[in-house]
Amino acid sequence: MRSDVRRRVPFAWVIGPLAVLLVAVLIVRWAGGDAGPGAAATRSSPSTSPSPSPTPQRPPACTDGKTLAAARTYGDWSKTLVDTRFRLPATYVPPDLVPVSQAGLSGTVEVRSLVIPDLTALGAAAAAAGAPVDVEAAYRSWADQQSLYERRLQEFGPTGPATRTARPGHSEHQLGTTVDFKTKGALDVSTKWASSRAGAWMQANAWRFGFVLSYPSGQDALTCYPYEPWHFRYFGRVVASIIHASGLTSRQVLWDEERTASP
Ligand code: DAL
Ligand code: ZN
Repeated sequence: MRSDVRRRVPFAWVIGPLAVLLVAVLIVRWAGGDAGPGAAATRSSPSTSPSPSPTPQRPPACTDGKTLAAARTYGDWSKTLVDTRFRLPATYVPPDLVPVSQAGLSGTVEVRSLVIPDLTALGAAAAAAGAPVDVEAAYRSWADQQSLYERRLQEFGPTGPATRTARPGHSEHQLGTTVDFKTKGALDVSTKWASSRAGAWMQANAWRFGFVLSYPSGQDALTCYPYEPWHFRYFGRVVASIIHASGLTSRQVLWDEERTASP
């Protein structure tokens, strides 16, 4: 018993400061822009963004707006807040889109090339775990999102599933770093996906490969959308680890960036 106590106290003294140091290093790397394998190569303007606050403020209510996101260069891909209020310009078309087949996944939809290494690793790990995944949707242009939104509106009306579809400019899919996943061979995404093998694997492991679920269950007031177990935004492994460890939604972290970056 006494030797147990002797062993535990120094352990706490050493591990506690080390953990704080690790989080600080991760945050500094994000603020410096080391947010993923392609961050340096694709950065189109220098980052002056601050570190995420340890006590982030609650994001604004999910009202419709059309404010341009403050951080919206192609190099800001891990920092751009896209929600019902903040948006991308119609001219935002990432310059490095490539088909997801480059990650060994089926389909012709596209993502930014910086996503490919981790998407490849994720696909391989999911398959190795007996939970193979496919991509249902990825990059959507402003025009794609507009026709999707209008189709939903006409089909279901303004209180139906149209409210689950972002207006043009307000979809994370326009970033080219967001992917809707499904079980390999499935016809579509599913709201019950988390109880399937592939869906459960993704909920538990996607962050390890840099992907964060944008719209988790029961967080509508914070995320602005009902649960979408399929919709993951790529942040790179460092930032995804920070968001995962924080227990916050990605919109809370991005709002912290937005409010401090806004003039
Ligand atoms: N369903 C998500 C919110 C989108 O349309 O981007
Ligand atoms: Zn989606």
